[in-house]
Amino acid sequence: MITKFNHVAIVVPDLYAAARKYEKILGAKVSSISDYSEHGVSVVFVELENTKIELMHPYGNNSPIKKFLEKNSGGAIHHICLEVKDIKSCCKNLKLHGITILGDEEPKNGAHNKPVIFLHPKDFYGTLIELQQE
Ligand code: CO
Repeated sequence: MITKFNHVAIVVPDLYAAARKYEKILGAKVSSISDYSEHGVSVVFVELENTKIELMHPYGNNSPIKKFLEKNSGGAIHHICLEVKDIKSCCKNLKLHGITILGDEEPKNGAHNKPVIFLHPKDFYGTLIELQQE
């Protein structure tokens, strides 16, 4: 089912400082800051040749990553994103195997305007997995 690695997302305490660090010290190509009010996150994309890193910070008061940053105040890896060809059939298969899909179990349009679901970390060795339609 999974085909490609899409991104790793890291929650950081200071988005601007984190972007500058990747740019100045690691020589990375970084985007400007994008605010996604509907997702409650601000994001900087670190573009690599084969993948990308998303640096995230809570946006607004109801951000889904607010608690995560409180628990990991210095920053931490939040999730990895893998691509799948057919997210609907993927959902069925996951449910058959007793995997917990977060939320109402239906694919939602993610920050890249493609359908995504999130799998509970308890089912995948402590890692929150985002599956994104190719
Ligand atoms: Co993501």
